Amino acid sequence: MCGIVGMIGQGQTKAMILKGLETLEYRGYDSAGIALHTGRAVDVYREKGRIADLKKHIPTDADAHLGIGHTRWATHGRPSQRNSHPHQSSNGRLTLVHNGVIENEKQLRQEYLHDSIFASDTDTEVIVQLLAQLVEKHGDLPTAIIALQQLLHGSYALAIIDREQPDVLYAVKNKSPLLIGKGEEANYLGSDALAMIDKTKNFYELNDGEYAILTAEAVEIFDREGKKIIRETFEAQIDANDLAKGPFKHYMMKEMNEQPAVIRRIIQAYINDQNETLIDQQILTTLRNAKRIFILAAGTSYHAGLVGKQYIETMAQIPTEVHLASEFVYNMPFIPEGSCFIFISQSGETADSRAALVAIRELGFEALTITNVPGSTLSREANYTLLLHAGPEIAVASTKAYTAQLTVLALTAAAIRNYDLDLKFELARVATAMDHICEMHEQFEMLAQNYFSHGQHAFYIGRHLDYFVALEAALKLKEISYIHTEGFAAGELKHGTIALIEEGTPVVGLIAQAKVANHTRSNLQEVAARGAHTATIVCESLAQAGDTVIIDDVHELFTPLVMVLPVQFLAYYAAYIRDCDIDKPRNLAKSVTVE
Ligand code: F6R
Repeated sequence: MCGIVGMIGQGQTKAMILKGLETLEYRGYDSAGIALHTGRAVDVYREKGRIADLKKHIPTDADAHLGIGHTRWATHGRPSQRNSHPHQSSNGRLTLVHNGVIENEKQLRQEYLHDSIFASDTDTEVIVQLLAQLVEKHGDLPTAIIALQQLLHGSYALAIIDREQPDVLYAVKNKSPLLIGKGEEANYLGSDALAMIDKTKNFYELNDGEYAILTAEAVEIFDREGKKIIRETFEAQIDANDLAKGPFKHYMMKEMNEQPAVIRRIIQAYINDQNETLIDQQILTTLRNAKRIFILAAGTSYHAGLVGKQYIETMAQIPTEVHLASEFVYNMPFIPEGSCFIFISQSGETADSRAALVAIRELGFEALTITNVPGSTLSREANYTLLLHAGPEIAVASTKAYTAQLTVLALTAAAIRNYDLDLKFELARVATAMDHICEMHEQFEMLAQNYFSHGQHAFYIGRHLDYFVALEAALKLKEISYIHTEGFAAGELKHGTIALIEEGTPVVGLIAQAKVANHTRSNLQEVAARGAHTATIVCESLAQAGDTVIIDDVHELFTPLVMVLPVQFLAYYAAYIRDCDIDKPRNLAKSVTVE
């Protein structure tokens, strides 16, 4: 959701910024823009649509040694050229890009900017106009930035160019992600490390309220009051090769196929040769002593949390609740003393989860973040972190992060009270079962053709753990193929929703839980009798003649890890057949950095 890239250095700035923006495409966007400081002036190019559209409008010989770029995911004002970033102050002196939301933009317009003429509908333009006013008042940009931060309410990562300072790039951060990259004869900034990884592996973190001044030679960081901060760089453990699609048409296909390897990598990272789990004892003690565990997350990560609750309650016997992060702060349940929180987030940047984390930390509770991104906001602000080791997930639809989340949750739950299960063996079985499912892709393509090539509605149903997979299956299908899909508890369908079943409505039953298998089959018959086009995805030991997809058996607790693969593939092929933009579905952002 919105991507920022900036560079100050020895030329080739345009190429670096455009490449960085392309790398950030996965975050989701609807328009893009770039500003280049030519030494005398700042040239701005902006377009609605893709970066490829933007490129067509930038003269081939345009370049600079200072520039900023942006991909916008509209919040204030429709996607359009006039609302695209960068935005400039009316006097033309300042140019900036912004990720985040300014909550008091209306009040700022009324109080300070009633005489300004706005060229867009964005909250971002409020920032740049206000900042220009503050520069006039205080005389210099750093002092104006300090004053600006006292007036802004909300989230903002900013990259700012001052026409009068062709050798300086400014960065400001509050609640939205922004990293500074340290290069050899250039310095960089970006919404995440991936945008700069082919230039540097060394990064400075910026904390909320801090700003930075970058020149080609140096990076200086200051706190909210303007006091200089001494900070070391950290090295990002990302391989630039992870960003390549390899032989695959789409990142989603690559990432689905990576899942067996990810499970094996997690086994290596978390289980030693003596079969002991390598999770920090402090984390385990905190969880073991918790009276109640609250799992908070959004979207796919929330679905992982639903399974995680079962793992913790079954293997560690600690009462566990799962909440949508976006609801939690506004609808807070009773939290008994001695409770502990687990945040699950692939990106570690989801604003809803972050708001909940800030709220519970203020109440004095401890938090563990399970994330794929080391150094991400949710990781830094929690007491503890467990990493997913899934490698960068670029496709907007989360696949390998979900299975990695389930695996890390299972390992953690089992380690809390040394649950008697050979996890290394069981998870290795999962990885092998996943290998076999990945080999079945032609079957999934045919099924998608048969069930999802046309029609606008579909259902996934299941019971117990299968129900949680049905929720994830529905999210996957709807987000990339735009088929309206519901994931349903199989037994609940007849209490109202069965009214939606028509001749040909696809209903896929997930059957991996022995004790409810027959019930789910009965529910499938009920909908088939009303015209539904039914299919089954079944574990081998529960299979019957006529089942549609049969997958290898694994330990019953870990069936969600394998059941989810066929539904991911089905979603992929449904989107493919319908000619949808698989890796960058409409309206969606990978990293949802606004509440
Ligand atoms: C769906 C998907 C989203 C994310 C959600 C939370 O495929 O990717 O539903 O799961 O936006 O994101 P994270 O896990 O980064 O907090």
